Amino acid sequence: MGFTNIRLEREEAVAIVSVCRPDKLNALNDATLEELTTAFTELKADAQVRCVILTGGEAKRPAFVAGADIAELAQQTPLEGKRRSHFGQGLCDLIENLGKPVIAAVNGFALGGGLELALACHIRLASADARLGLPEVTLGIIPGYGGTQRLPRLVGLGIALELITTGRMMDAEEAARHGLVNSVCEPAELMPAARKLAAKVVANGPLAVRLALESALRGRSQPLAEALGYEANLFGFISASADMREGLQAFLEKRRAEFKGT
Ligand code: COA
Repeated sequence: MGFTNIRLEREEAVAIVSVCRPDKLNALNDATLEELTTAFTELKADAQVRCVILTGGEAKRPAFVAGADIAELAQQTPLEGKRRSHFGQGLCDLIENLGKPVIAAVNGFALGGGLELALACHIRLASADARLGLPEVTLGIIPGYGGTQRLPRLVGLGIALELITTGRMMDAEEAARHGLVNSVCEPAELMPAARKLAAKVVANGPLAVRLALESALRGRSQPLAEALGYEANLFGFISASADMREGLQAFLEKRRAEFKGT
């Protein structure tokens, strides 16, 4: 389908989703949240797509996503606020549970809902001019798309609570020191670096990548013994796959594996 506020491109097994509201630093209004939900629902079902890159389209100033659209938030009633939070959380859950890695290429401001989107991705790369933060409290509101939960889990409670309660922005280098982003590149190198990572992902067994993601993500909410049991079940399950036989045989025959995702 056609989109107005996002762009969806496919480069063989890699899909690139760009948020495109150039005049508003790619802020997420409801229409954009809906388009992103439609796009990621499509990508989840599309077996040809094995990795997704999420980034911000060209804007007035370098921006990944500068947050939820403040003009819309300013009008909301309590019930609308709750509905909006559930909808944004739903999109973040969809991204986190896509079954294929999503790489956030953070190319500028990633604030509020923008950082929350990036937090739902599996790998985060940032350009040197990126600025990341949860400034909601400076507006008298709280993060509502998962930020109060995913940020502490990623960087630890201490630094997360500092960001959440001060609303201050971090630059890319500081974000990398705290593990909020995996690495930092010059702005012109960001998309090449994201494509290079995506190429490494799509060379691997798609079923293996999916189950490894599922094991790691699901294990976070389980006691260790249960999570290890789940991992063992998936490890056993994948032994039934053609991909496992192909991957191991290719190693033994000193050739490149040809995975089929079965
Ligand atoms: N929602 C709606 N519009 C936004 C926006 C948001 N989250 N962030 C930026 N914009 C709009 C601005 O209103 C402005 O629109 P206008 O030109 O029609 O007035 C345009 O994007 C450019 O932003 P501007 O503030 O002029 O750019 P700047 O370079 O001076 O500052 C920021 C950049 C990111 C520091 C500043 O825009 C900002 O603080 N944005 C809000 C960030 C935020 O609090 N996000 C969390 C929301 S819950």
